[in-house]
Amino acid sequence: MLSFMKNGKSHSPETICVHAGTVLDPVSSGVVSPIVTATAQPYLEKNSIVYPRYFNLPNQLAVAEKIKELEGAEDAMVFASGMAAISTTLLSQLKMGDHVIFQNSLYGGTRNMVLTMFDNLGIQYSFTKGNEVQDFAELIQNNTRLIYFESPSNPLLLLCDMAGISELAKTHQCITAIDSTFASPVFQNPYKLGIDLVLHSATKYLGGHSDFCAGVVAGKKNLIDKVRKYAKCLGGSLDGHTSYLLERSMKTLSPRTNLQAQNAKFLAAKLEEMKGIQRVLYPGLPSHPQYELAKKQMKGFGGMITFELEPWLDPVNFQKNLQIISPMVSLGGVESTICSPHLTSHVLFSKEERAGMGISDGLLRFSVGIESQEDLLKDIEQALRK
Ligand SMILES: Cc1ncc(COP(=O)(O)O)c(C=O)c1O
Repeated sequence: MLSFMKNGKSHSPETICVHAGTVLDPVSSGVVSPIVTATAQPYLEKNSIVYPRYFNLPNQLAVAEKIKELEGAEDAMVFASGMAAISTTLLSQLKMGDHVIFQNSLYGGTRNMVLTMFDNLGIQYSFTKGNEVQDFAELIQNNTRLIYFESPSNPLLLLCDMAGISELAKTHQCITAIDSTFASPVFQNPYKLGIDLVLHSATKYLGGHSDFCAGVVAGKKNLIDKVRKYAKCLGGSLDGHTSYLLERSMKTLSPRTNLQAQNAKFLAAKLEEMKGIQRVLYPGLPSHPQYELAKKQMKGFGGMITFELEPWLDPVNFQKNLQIISPMVSLGGVESTICSPHLTSHVLFSKEERAGMGISDGLLRFSVGIESQEDLLKDIEQALRK
């Protein structure tokens, strides 16, 4: 076990997905990692203690190795959920009196975490007005310690200039952290563009089958060491069985996400022409306001499309009329799913707050699966007709 890098050189993402991190099975010598579940493990003859909450089970390390190599980072960890990864990472890097800049357009759970916890902890924060580097720059204070953003963001698929934000942060000695869930490590590698910490809700594309919760962080070794210290205290560890499932899912990450992206590109273009659709947001469409940036910093445009229905169409009825695409929370699975952010990820915010973020009641977040693109197209057309 575990490193798959040879002489410091990594393989291509497809090969890393299949092979990196695999734990040698001393019983079968087979090609898959054995699942280790023991919480009671020997310590007398060893110089370190292996224990699930210490984030050092072989199956946890196998996933960490895959994600580390995929992102091209120095170190990585796996958690019990995306929010466990995000909260532990942020708490480990911040202390009372520090200031953080958050992008305005964020996953609702992350925004809710900030509003629920940060005042009590004495951590100051500001939300940007927009997504441009300038929007972050104008909020820098003497005590700004961290810049946090999503790209593409949930649900509006807005992008941030990763290299630009990294440069800004370095000038002001700040750390940068990105939630890269929507892109997955297949379509962008923020660490390689200078971002210090890269987070994913592994519940989405990394898991890919809508059947468990997990999260990961990858980044600089000295920062991940701090995350690990806090993680042991906060205890958001993933068990051996689920770590194994995640490792298994990640083997097919590249073909799955590439097929989802192909389907999404096809459907986004079709949606733009359809009667009843007011606007379509997809980073791979020339009409996306940041199409040039998407081409510059992404290797593909992902499987998420956001679109807005004309006001005369009822978004709830539209979703109920779909036959293949399911109205469901969560995203990134092989099955196509759709949801109204105002009823799901952003339900905790008032209508006015959502309007400020650009989230109307007619906005729909579409996670494109691996079904036939023609079938998906027909499904949308028939639901619109009804
Ligand atoms: C972009 C993004 N980040 C983080 C999370 C939180 O992940 P989890 O539900 O695995 O805690 C989500 C969940 O929807 C998400 O969409």
